[in-house]
Amino acid sequence: MKISYSIPTLFCFLLFISCTGNGDSWTAEHGYGPVTETLELGEISESKALEGAQIFASYCAACHTMTASISGPALGRTVNHRTPEFIVNYTVEPRENRMNHPIGQELADQYPGIMTNTGVSVEEAIAVLEYMRFFAEFGEEPGE
Ligand code: HEC
Repeated sequence: MKISYSIPTLFCFLLFISCTGNGDSWTAEHGYGPVTETLELGEISESKALEGAQIFASYCAACHTMTASISGPALGRTVNHRTPEFIVNYTVEPRENRMNHPIGQELADQYPGIMTNTGVSVEEAIAVLEYMRFFAEFGEEPGE
């Protein structure tokens, strides 16, 4: 009698542990934010990178450049050490990541500025990611 209850209970418990475990490892690698699945990125597109560069100029350039750290980190090589999903999540949810993600907390200690929410959409953040990918790959601005 006892066993027939405890096996399903144990099963549910293990299922629960494994699900929360997966959630945590996604967040550890890809940050907090709306992107919860792998982004399908194709070949680097220069026209999309140009679009991203314009969004960057309007919403990000006050605190970031591709090559130099100002109040925020240089972003021209970030694709080499962060996942695309992390970059997009950080762009859209800076506050959540700075406060709760170990990488965000480390960045907050390292940089004098505080990244405010810029209001860009996931789509716009993906365009900016394309600009970062272009810069990391070719070492120059798109459209040059
Ligand atoms: C008001 C200044 C400011 C603005 C505007 C800003 N950022 Fe930031 N950003 C920062 C600072 C400071 C950090 C590091 C700590 C933090 O989050 O405050 C950061 C961190 C980041 C990171 C994480 C870098 C890493 O090494 O993982 C990414 C990605 C990023 N910003 C992208 C962007 C993008 C894209 C935009 C424009 C849509 C933008 N930021 C606008 C200041 C800013």
